[in-house]
Amino acid sequence: MKISSVYDCNVLPLVKIHNRAGNITIVEGENNVPFDVKRIYYLYDMPSGEARGGHGHKALYQLIVATSGSFDVQLDDGVNKRIVRLNRPDYGLLIVPGIWRELFEFSSGSVCLVLASLKYDESDYIRNYSDFQRYKNKLQ
Ligand code: TYD
Repeated sequence: MKISSVYDCNVLPLVKIHNRAGNITIVEGENNVPFDVKRIYYLYDMPSGEARGGHGHKALYQLIVATSGSFDVQLDDGVNKRIVRLNRPDYGLLIVPGIWRELFEFSSGSVCLVLASLKYDESDYIRNYSDFQRYKNKLQ
């Protein structure tokens, strides 16, 4: 298996249809994102100063969209780190498997929409950073 890097995680432009009554953005699994969408969830009402995430996934692909407001996503592959700011509902951050992520700097009223390639499975999570580093080293 190829070892994933933070540079495999890209901000993808999403389809946006504009008219005078407002905009619509469409995300179709396997068409606009490189995975089939099996699960959708969203984070909201984050208190100021709070952080979310703080884990990695072994197999899960995700597309993260700031459907309202803005926040930062820190990506970490065990070697390199990158911070991506999301602040537009027509762009989504693709996160590949094997990336430690943290979300923070949520603006007031922000909403973080997540499209995921798998149903919820706690065994796909790596919740401890040392375990994550060991997991990445084993793949090398
Ligand atoms: P978690 O993924 O740890 O949240 P975050 O990364 O945003 O900080 O999930 C928080 C809680 O919600 C945890 O108890 C697991 C549960 N959960 C589900 O039951 N199903 C899901 O699809 C998700 C994403 C979380």
